[in-house]
Amino acid sequence: MKRVTPGGVPRFERRLRRWYTRWVRPRLSRELDLQRVKLCYFALDYWPLLRVRTIGLRDRLELVARFLRIDWYVLHSHRPREIAQVCAALAARPARPGEVMVEAGCWNGGSSAKFSLMCRLLGYRLRIYDSFQGVEPRDAAVASEEYEYDFSGEYAASDATLRRNLERFGAAEVCSIHPGWFETTLARAPVPDVVRAVFIDCDGAKGTREVLLGVIPSLARDGVIFSQDFHIPSVRELLQDARTWERFGRGVPRIERLGRHLAAVRLWAYAEHRVLRDRRRVRERRMGERRGADRRVAARRA
Ligand SMILES: C[S@@+](CC[C@H](N)C(=O)[O-])C[C@H]1O[C@@H](n2cnc3c(N)ncnc32)[C@H](O)[C@@H]1O
Repeated sequence: MKRVTPGGVPRFERRLRRWYTRWVRPRLSRELDLQRVKLCYFALDYWPLLRVRTIGLRDRLELVARFLRIDWYVLHSHRPREIAQVCAALAARPARPGEVMVEAGCWNGGSSAKFSLMCRLLGYRLRIYDSFQGVEPRDAAVASEEYEYDFSGEYAASDATLRRNLERFGAAEVCSIHPGWFETTLARAPVPDVVRAVFIDCDGAKGTREVLLGVIPSLARDGVIFSQDFHIPSVRELLQDARTWERFGRGVPRIERLGRHLAAVRLWAYAEHRVLRDRRRVRERRMGERRGADRRVAARRA
């Protein structure tokens, strides 16, 4: 049985962390080298992916091998366990026609490359949103209200870096990239496809709120939203506040904490109506246009 300390971290892991901080960290200056060292311990956390039944064993083994390759070459800010949990939830069923996964906050594309591989196996497309200017500068009001680490400007990477990593390590052909602050992309208009899963990793409550505006109206019946920022007090408060969800009219969601950083948010009532209604409207408009064109051709012939 695992011995767990009151903080929820297994005792062995706490010892290992102390040892790492004392002996490894001071000796390695490159973040990527540190990530490689940590992989020796965390790689085993990919094991839930080997149990996913919706894809064949060979694909599962290849997937884990490719994830490890990404961990080796691309600096990222997640742990294998977190990605494995998100991918396992996505793999609960293959995609229905036109369904997508949304990633909000990609940095160098380490998580994006992994999600793209999983999406390709299951038939989803991956929509990636990022400012490509790092974490949005924090609201002065929030900054003065409480003590919280300020990530402003951190994790800036170019879209060229993302594209390169997707092409080299992921499945670029299933991805679309949407550059810009979330307030000008996701918050402006709901995602035009049915969204099956969302991964939010933007280090701020404002960004998280804007992502919700874009994804919830398009969320699939069994859609799930993952926040990788649940350790940040203002993000946690936002997600746990009933008022956040009032505007969507679908009740208060069930939030399950899956780790120190990761939480899964599931809405009971589903939200496919709007997207489907819009799609129907587009189809009707197209048919109307076609009928009008036919009438004009017939009138000209007469
Ligand atoms: C922690 S990094 C993402 C890490 C990545 N998911 C991974 O696992 O390696 C946060 C990302 O969110 C983006 N970001 C933060 N706030 C944003 C906002 N308001 N609009 C658009 N992008 C934002 C940053 O540019 C950055 O790439």
